Amino acid sequence: MLKLEFKVTPWDVEGMVDYDKLIEQFGTSPLTDELLERTARLTKSELPIYFRRRFFFSHRDYDKILEDYESGRGFFLYTGRGPSGPMHIGHIIPFYATKWLQEKFGVNLYIQITDDEKFLFKNLTLDETKRWAYENILDIIAVGFDPDKTFIFQDSEFTKIYEMALPIAKKINYSMAKAVFGFNEQSKIGMIFYPAIQAAPTFFERKRCLIPAAIDQDPYWRLQRDFAESLGYYKTAALHSKFVPPLTGLEGKMSASKPETAVYLTDDPEEAGKKIWRFALTGGQPTLKEQREKGGNPEKCVVFKWLEIFFEEDDKKLMERYHACKAGELTCGECKRYLIKKVQEFLKEHQKKRKEAEKKVEKFKYTGELAREQWERAIPEKLR
Ligand code: TRP
Repeated sequence: MLKLEFKVTPWDVEGMVDYDKLIEQFGTSPLTDELLERTARLTKSELPIYFRRRFFFSHRDYDKILEDYESGRGFFLYTGRGPSGPMHIGHIIPFYATKWLQEKFGVNLYIQITDDEKFLFKNLTLDETKRWAYENILDIIAVGFDPDKTFIFQDSEFTKIYEMALPIAKKINYSMAKAVFGFNEQSKIGMIFYPAIQAAPTFFERKRCLIPAAIDQDPYWRLQRDFAESLGYYKTAALHSKFVPPLTGLEGKMSASKPETAVYLTDDPEEAGKKIWRFALTGGQPTLKEQREKGGNPEKCVVFKWLEIFFEEDDKKLMERYHACKAGELTCGECKRYLIKKVQEFLKEHQKKRKEAEKKVEKFKYTGELAREQWERAIPEKLR
């Protein structure tokens, strides 16, 4: 059943998300053709599918980021991951987009792994969130970031983050945090402090920060933009992505607690194929005869969505598939098999790089150029 209502918060995505409405609700700006064309021009590159196909659809101050780049002032990137379980396809796509931006603009990137957040907000022990942090870091490294320009840090370990969070925590009062995050009398006090920790990396450099992330994280950035300038820093910029729909339907997002809805990056490729075959919702007709006569419904098909978002790079092939489906020339079985092949190829390649990542963790966390700089750095005088 199609729900008319939808809800997007940092903890929950429900219903059929209307992304145009979300731009209005959150007060962000649409990522326009003009901005994307400027991006292509400045990077002298063809845009990757996450931008071309509008998986990233909204922004804050991305125009200013491009100006900063053009004027030579520069900018830096920040993103993150809450380690509460295995990562799936939906989690990793924003990291691919981030990698593209890092490579094309040649900028530093900070990746926050919030084992503290997941300990506070979820029913997990700190040992569990630390273990997931390690597992997730392997998936993130597998994306292929530049180890000298990327610092991956875990909050429970890179405790300097606390010092950065302090001046921020002094700028946010309870009623502001409550208005943005809906805290109540039962909220743990650690949860109330946490937004200061997630905002802190936006101050890692005295340049404008650009955060590519799913739009559910925007409340943190909205809050950051309220106090950033009063601390002598830039309001952060952001690029917002949509959610990858679960295999089982177009509503909500993939969930770690419902394994049949997601393909995890560590899934055995054979098993992942079976999962897609068995659970993926398509927009097909009930019988082959009707499919041939009436055609399918790619707009209502998760298989088509997954191809559109990530797995079919070739625009022409995607359009052909769309029309062939509409014309009743394709069966859902054929499309599923095609997607399965693409997903399996991706998983095999990812898992190979994930294995190699085991040897690189040290560099991203402690010994890469940027990592060393951050571990050695003292809190800027201005903030003390
Ligand atoms: N809160 C995020 C999560 O639950 C983790 C996170 C921390 C993050 N900093 C971020 C995500 C910056 C995106 C960008 O997954």
